[in-house]
Amino acid sequence: MNDFTEAIPEQDAPSQDRITSRYICTANHGFAPYAQEELRRLFGAVKSTLLLPGEVFLATLEAEPQEVSRKLGLHPPVFLRHIQPVDFQDTGGLPALERLAVYLSRRPELEGERVSLQVRKGTSSFWEDSPGELREWLQARLESLDAEFTVQDPARVISVYADGEALYAGISRPEDNLSSWNGGMIRFRKEDGQISRAKFKLMEAEKEFGIPFSSFRNALDIGASPGGWTSFLLERGLKVTAVDPALMHESLRSHPGLKILRKNAGEVKFRENEFDLLVCDMSWSPKLMAKLVTGLLYSLSPGGTAVVTVKLMHKKPMAVIKEIIAMFEGERMQIQRAKQLFHNRDEITLYMIKY
Ligand SMILES: C[S@@+](CC[C@H](N)C(=O)[O-])C[C@H]1O[C@@H](n2cnc3c(N)ncnc32)[C@H](O)[C@@H]1O
Repeated sequence: MNDFTEAIPEQDAPSQDRITSRYICTANHGFAPYAQEELRRLFGAVKSTLLLPGEVFLATLEAEPQEVSRKLGLHPPVFLRHIQPVDFQDTGGLPALERLAVYLSRRPELEGERVSLQVRKGTSSFWEDSPGELREWLQARLESLDAEFTVQDPARVISVYADGEALYAGISRPEDNLSSWNGGMIRFRKEDGQISRAKFKLMEAEKEFGIPFSSFRNALDIGASPGGWTSFLLERGLKVTAVDPALMHESLRSHPGLKILRKNAGEVKFRENEFDLLVCDMSWSPKLMAKLVTGLLYSLSPGGTAVVTVKLMHKKPMAVIKEIIAMFEGERMQIQRAKQLFHNRDEITLYMIKY
């Protein structure tokens, strides 16, 4: 569960001799201040320096790494997309990179492990070539290390951030980074004939929240046009009822598993418990969206799942999210996760189950 519906944990008074740890933290563009606020709520005072305005910052937290992982696991953040430890910091330049290679090749926790080497650059960096080339350069220097470099299921991640005239690096377990993807940037290949980029949001929700979409049978898609989400659900073998006054993409119109209702969501009626999945990706004010969707929740069977995007509309995001969550919770919806996915722009995604 996220922190929006919970009491903010109490903080001890800051002290000079408290253990601190440092991280490079990443949020979607423009949302770093909210990620900083989430960290403040969990760890008290956060000393932070912006590395990429609105997006990436270096934070010093008053907790040791195990405590940071534990608290982030208990209170998954909405806006903090990725966090990587800084165990090594140096000036930029080749000598610093050589020192980093020596440091890494002596790390016992990497010995005999499957290791992913993730490299990012700031907008300006002493390393002028691509991050991929820096990764190759570094990996070649780590030949003496008895480790298997891989992107699949690593046991450890080496995260490197080359920014301006500084070099930061750290080693962690992938689950401690909030995302096993480099910087939390989960990428999907655009398919031929893909109807909309919106489809990536549902694909990411499937991976991020572990939603077993193929296990559902009958889905309601509200605000479905042009049909990216609908096409994803049809591919997972579901029957779909798509509601939208706008046209669905022509490639979907004669699909046998699809019923299209060219209507406003406020005008449609269904049988009770008709669906076991409800999704909604409506470009609408969040309160009106929540009113329309909660008005249709009678058609979602108990135990059914809902995935809904909440547009933040440049308002106070924390307050908007709290209000929308309260509206759903008042209608027998249990919030599983609220998260700004990498593919969410000015919105977050709510994953809920009806009880
Ligand atoms: C961002 S698009 C949805 C994209 C879609 N999820 C996809 O994957 O292609 C938002 C859609 O919500 C629809 N919409 C907005 N208000 C609506 C309402 N009251 N009832 C039904 N659909 C609505 C719009 O017509 C628009 O097609």
